[in-house]
Amino acid sequence: MNLDKDLFNIDGLEISSHEKSKRIIEIKIKDEIIKKLIFPFHKFDITALEYKPFTRFTIAKSLNDLTSGKLSILINSILKDRNTGCFIIGPKNLSSKTDENFLVKLSTAITHLIGNPNHDAMAGKYYARFHVKHEDNSDSYLRKAYINMDLHTDGTYIKEKTDWLLMSKLEEENVQGGETSLLHLDDWEHLNDLFKNKIGKQNFIWGSPKSKNIDYKVEHPVFSEDQNGNPQISYIDQFPEPKNMEQGLFLQKLSDALEESENKIIFPLTVGSTMVANNYFWLHGRKPFKENKNLSRELLRIRGSFFNN
Ligand SMILES: [Fe+2]
Repeated sequence: MNLDKDLFNIDGLEISSHEKSKRIIEIKIKDEIIKKLIFPFHKFDITALEYKPFTRFTIAKSLNDLTSGKLSILINSILKDRNTGCFIIGPKNLSSKTDENFLVKLSTAITHLIGNPNHDAMAGKYYARFHVKHEDNSDSYLRKAYINMDLHTDGTYIKEKTDWLLMSKLEEENVQGGETSLLHLDDWEHLNDLFKNKIGKQNFIWGSPKSKNIDYKVEHPVFSEDQNGNPQISYIDQFPEPKNMEQGLFLQKLSDALEESENKIIFPLTVGSTMVANNYFWLHGRKPFKENKNLSRELLRIRGSFFNN
């Protein structure tokens, strides 16, 4: 970790490295801050946050002020540092006060310290809430409980920049399996091999199924470079439309090389927890759930761009 140690001393927060990886920072919000958030969060209901974007900044400021302005510096530093790029944040203790509405507001506040959310066309809002249940008739892997959701990045098929993504676990019942899996590009055994392949830098066509409500296709390569020459990836298995055998075989090789990686970080995201990751060098996915007719999980997602783009 290159991050300045001073960043990690913030009253009201417990900050540590995740037990599974030093690249992931865990931030637990103590009761003293949670209690002080209740009042400012009550000033706006969810509809106000949806209809009046400026209210999202008001609650983001309330959260940041409770840490003397240090939380925004910390989370922006984590997300932009190539060595980390990911954090998990949430109340240290859950209570009846930290209900789903509170978690939607907390997630909104966190994202508005980082950047602006993209319009989520699937939900028609700046965020999307979705259930994973036993039965599913949808057209993407998002809600298929018993199938592995392979490692991918978000926003591959939209025009807007997707610098980061946030996932919050709002609810979970009768769940076994379904762990989050994450892979940092620099931990991937096959990065050099795949990154130097010229086909990965060709333009691919990216479409999406109907439920995503995107009526256009975009073109971009799988691999690009950041300002410092570090590899970046934009990839998901379901949406690229290979133009020829070369592109098809490249995608197959890429998919196999990602899924067979031994360096995935696999852990259960607990209810009330929020994961935020840099979308250029972290891939994310989900392990299959164990079959259960009463399985239920609700997630919230927000994706967007950094303010300073
Ligand atoms: Fe995703």
